Formats: sequence, structure tokens, C-alpha cells
Amino acid sequence: ALAAPGCSLLSRTPLPQVLASRAPLPKPYGVPLPLPVTARPARSDATTDYYELVQREADAQILPGLRTRVWGYDGRFPGPTIRARSGRRTVVRVTNALGAPTVTHLHGGHTPPESDGYPTDLVGPGGHRDYAFPLDQRAATLWYHDHRMDYTGPQVWRGLAGFFLVGDEEEAALPLPSGERDIPLMICDRSFGADGSMPYPASPEGPGAREAFMGGVLGDVILVNGAPWPSLGVDRARYRFRLLNASNARVYELALAPAGRLVRVGGDGGLLAAPRPADRVRLAPGERADVVVDFAAHRVGEHVELRNLLGEGPQARVMRFTVERDARDDSAIPATLSRVEPLDPARAAVTRDFEFSSGSMNGHNGWLINGKPFDARRVDARPKLGQVEVWRLTSDVAHPVHLHLSPFQVLSVGGERPAGPPEWKDTVELREAQTVEIVTRFTGYRGRYVMHCHNLEHEDMAMMSTFEVV
Ligand code: C2O
Ligand code: CU
Ligand code: CU
Repeated sequence: ALAAPGCSLLSRTPLPQVLASRAPLPKPYGVPLPLPVTARPARSDATTDYYELVQREADAQILPGLRTRVWGYDGRFPGPTIRARSGRRTVVRVTNALGAPTVTHLHGGHTPPESDGYPTDLVGPGGHRDYAFPLDQRAATLWYHDHRMDYTGPQVWRGLAGFFLVGDEEEAALPLPSGERDIPLMICDRSFGADGSMPYPASPEGPGAREAFMGGVLGDVILVNGAPWPSLGVDRARYRFRLLNASNARVYELALAPAGRLVRVGGDGGLLAAPRPADRVRLAPGERADVVVDFAAHRVGEHVELRNLLGEGPQARVMRFTVERDARDDSAIPATLSRVEPLDPARAAVTRDFEFSSGSMNGHNGWLINGKPFDARRVDARPKLGQVEVWRLTSDVAHPVHLHLSPFQVLSVGGERPAGPPEWKDTVELREAQTVEIVTRFTGYRGRYVMHCHNLEHEDMAMMSTFEVV
């Protein structure tokens, strides 16, 4: 069944059993890990690569022997991976061949407002739009996905998401695992009907449905790159995995079994200053982590599982690696990866407070920021271009909060400084009843952007706010 996420509000709410009959859960580790195709530019000139993606329906084989209708960029779920270069302009023409309006957002992009996918900048069926990304930003694991107001949850659920990897010279010069040992892993959960269909569980408009959606939509099958609990054969060597939590609402705490080290080298906003070994990596919806795993610690023939410590039963599994062969490995994890200048909160011209809470509007329960639901006609903050600001985010239940345009550093979590040197992020998880302070500097572009909860059902239930850089 659609289980309740770790949200106290939802656990009091009965959930609708919307799938009349469910497909049996596929056998874990029964299918190979797919790698998303790499998009090829339609053309390139001295400054710019031009891509063309068509959003369309397609039949995918996700569960063995069954067909699943998806909405995909180029009919693929995940969409093609765009591999771009820092400082090189990338223009993506997205054509909408679906029956519903869409708008595409580059998550983590430092993007001018007209290309940022504001939730009402919709493209109707048959239309297209050119999104221009200057990419004046450092190497990082970004992703693109649909951002239609009120419908991001269902449209991403159906498959409208893909990787967008930005590289730069600093990163290319590092001896980190690369090529076939640099693998993006898009993790998300879905549920399937007996016929293989992947319906969004209910319509947010149906009677009582809004309340049942309060915690967000969870699936019972964990997909990695669109395949259920896949497996990957690996060399006895180091691999870099670019982990993305593309789930609507599920939070993961990823760990290896047997226990092993995940060395985190990057986050939302690119490389860390120095590697951080960990035995687990927590990812709320929208967050990324680049980790290096060294399979030389295992013998040929051994299995290593990637597990979710927050999941139960089948949902505690994610994927499995099988160590297949000895191999040469020239990679290394350097002690210094990059420079991350701490952004000094003493330079902040303004401190703003944002309170994330549930509330009632027009007799419906919804999610609010500072007591208000999203309204595209209203601007809630006007930071000045170039200005440093501290934003204090407070929550009732857990919310992964995402800021467009402006990468930030976390100053405090529940009153405490986070461990380790600062890193650049674009999404931060507020745990239940917690205050998180972030510091950011608004650079590059004036215009309208959003901040919102990246639990996509919360976002669709209006937990979003517009800020305008002036
Ligand atoms: Cu990944 Cu505004 O979203
Ligand atoms: Cu974003
Ligand atoms: Cu939320």
C-alpha cells in the first residue's frame, strides 16, 4: 500500500487504496541497471550547444513482462542526460507533445528568470520553448524536471525528469573515477497496477484526496534509473556515483551492506572542499550526493547492496552491486577537492524568516509559507542583486526546502553549526520542528524565482513562495 512517510500529520489520515489491483513486486536485483542515454546536441557553434528534447508518452518496460506508459523527455524515463560544460551556453528546446501543459526547470541552475521554469510559464500541447542556460557556475550534478504549477507531483511521477551534468576544468583535472566509473543514479519510488500502469495515486481534486496527500505520495517499488531494484556488475575499483533523490516525497538514508564506506566528494552545488567519509548519506527529495565507493575492499563474486535505512521490507532495498573482476584503477580521492569560500553571515544586509506550516485554505488542508499559499501574482521577498542575506527557515513537520537561482550554505541546523566546512547546496531538509539558517548571495539576474518545498505534493499544495531579485 501507499505507506505514510515520516510525517505525523499523515499518519492520522487514512489513505485511499487507489490501485484496484497491484502488480506483484518484482524480484530484487533481477534486472541490470540501465544508464540514461546521453543527449547529443542538434548543433553547436562557437559559444553554444543546442539540444532538442520532445516530451511525449511512450511505453517503457519497467516491470518484467509488463508495459508501462510514461511521460518522458524524448519518451524516456529518466530523460536523456545532458552533459554540459561550465561557462558554455546550453540551449534546450523542449517541445510539448503531451496532452497537458508543461514547463521545465533546471534544478541547481544559475539561470536567468525567463529560462528558469517559473511555474506559470507554461507551454501548451504542441508548443515549444527554448531554455537558455549560461552555466556560469561550477561543475555539479544538476537535474531537469517538470515544474507545472499544481501538477509537478503527477508530471514528475509519470517520468518528466533527467540528469544535467555540468563539468569544468577544475573537476576534470582531479583523479576521481571517471568515464564508465562515473555513474548517475536517479532514485525514485513508484507504484504499479497489475497491468503495469504507473498511475499517480489519485487526483488532488477528488473528494478527500487532498487530505490523503498531505504527507506526499510514496511508491512501493524503488527504481534506480527507471529500473526496479536493479543490479550492476562492477570492477574491483573505485566508482563515483552521482546520487539523486528524484522521489516525490520519500527520504533515503543510503548505506552499503555489508557495511562499507561512502566517501562523499560532492553535493547539490558541486565538489566539497575535501572528501568526507561516511557510513550513510541522507537524501531528501531534490538533494544530490556524489560518493566514491571502492569495491577493491571486496572479493570477486561478492555482492554489495545499497540499502535505505529509512525503508522497511522491500523498500529498504535500493540496488545491488556484484564485484565481477579485478581491474586496474588509476583513480584516487585527493585530500583537497576544491575551494569553497565560506559566505560570511556578518555581511548579510537582511535576515528574513520563512515559516513552513500546514494550514487550512477554503476548507482544504494545504501547505503554507508564512501563512500563505503560493500565488503567482504575489512577491514575498525582494532581495537586491549582489546582496548577501540570511534566511531563517522554520518547519512544523519535515520539509526539503529548495531555492531557485541562488546556491546557499547552511549556517545552523536546530541552533547548531553543521559539522565540517561549508558546502554549496540548493535544497536543505528541515526536520520536524526545526529551524535551519542559510546564507546566500543573489547574483547574476534580476527577476522572479521561487522557493518551495521539494516534497512535490507539498509544492503542489501551494508550499511555494516567489522572490524577486531587484
Ligand atoms: Cu527541483 Cu523548483 O525544483
Ligand atoms: Cu530548482
Ligand atoms: Cu514539505
